[in-house]
Amino acid sequence: MAEFYDQLAPLYHLIFQDWDKSITRQATQLTEIIRNEWGLGIDAVLDVSCGIGTQAIGLSQCGFRVTASDLSCEEISRAKREASARNLDIAFSVCDMREAYQHHGGGYDLVISCDNSIPCLLSDDDILAAMREMSACLRPGGGCLITVRDYDREERGKGIVKPHGARDVGDTRNVVFQVWDFDGDYYDLTMYFVEENRTSKTVQTHAMRSRYYAISPSKVVTLMEEAGFAAVKRLDDGFYQPVLIGTTRS
Ligand SMILES: C[S@@+](CC[C@H](N)C(=O)[O-])C[C@H]1O[C@@H](n2cnc3c(N)ncnc32)[C@H](O)[C@@H]1O
Repeated sequence: MAEFYDQLAPLYHLIFQDWDKSITRQATQLTEIIRNEWGLGIDAVLDVSCGIGTQAIGLSQCGFRVTASDLSCEEISRAKREASARNLDIAFSVCDMREAYQHHGGGYDLVISCDNSIPCLLSDDDILAAMREMSACLRPGGGCLITVRDYDREERGKGIVKPHGARDVGDTRNVVFQVWDFDGDYYDLTMYFVEENRTSKTVQTHAMRSRYYAISPSKVVTLMEEAGFAAVKRLDDGFYQPVLIGTTRS
C-alpha cells in the first residue's frame, strides 16, 4: 500500500479537477460538520491518513491546529512542501494508523481519516486496531470523523472503469481513470494517468496497482462502536462521501 501511494504522490492532485478548490471546499464542509457535531471545543486535530494533505491543509487554513501523518513517505514529503508553500504550520510525520497512539500520544480534540483511507486496511481486525488507536489519541469527549466510499452503491465485477477526467496542464493533457477487478469483498485497483504532450506528440502512461477492501459504511459504523466510540452515526449530507462520526466517552 505504501508503495502504491509513494508512486501516486507526485500525480495525486490530478485526480481532482482543481486540487486547491477541493481543499477549500472539503475544509468548509468538514468545519461545518465539526461545529454542528462538537461545537467550538475542537482545536487540536489529528489526521491519521493525510496523504498529500487535502484535508490537513484545508483545516489548518480554517484555523485548526493540525497534526498529520500517513504511511507513505513520498506523500508526507509532498504534504510538507505543499503546506510550506502555503505558509502553514502543520506537524507532518510518517506513521501507520494502526500505531497512531504510540506515535502521536493522546489529548487530541478530533481525529480524522478521510477520502476512503480506511478501506486500505484489508481486514476487520486491522480496521479495528486502527480505530482503537484513533480512540486512544483523543481526550475524553473527543471526536472521530471518517469518510468512506459507499461500497453498497458500487457495481461489482471485473474491468469496471471509474473515470476522473481530463486535466490540461500547459501543453499536456492528463487523462485519469481507475479500473477495478472485484474478488469477493476485495478489489484490485489500477490507477492510470495517461500524459499526452501535444507539442512533442509524446504519450506516457503511469499505471499503479493496489488492493482495497470494499467494506460497507454500516460495517465501519459497527467497528467504530466495537472500538468504544459512542453516539456513532452516519451523515449523508454535507460531504461528497458518507461521513461516519463517533465520540469518546467523557
Ligand atoms: C485515498 S488516500 C486519501 C489521502 C488524504 N486523506 C486525501 O484525501 O488526500 C488514502 C491514504 O491512506 C493512506 N494509508 C493507507 N494505509 C495506511 C495506514 N495503515 N496508515 C496510515 N495511512 C495509510 C495512504 O497512504 C493514502 O495516503
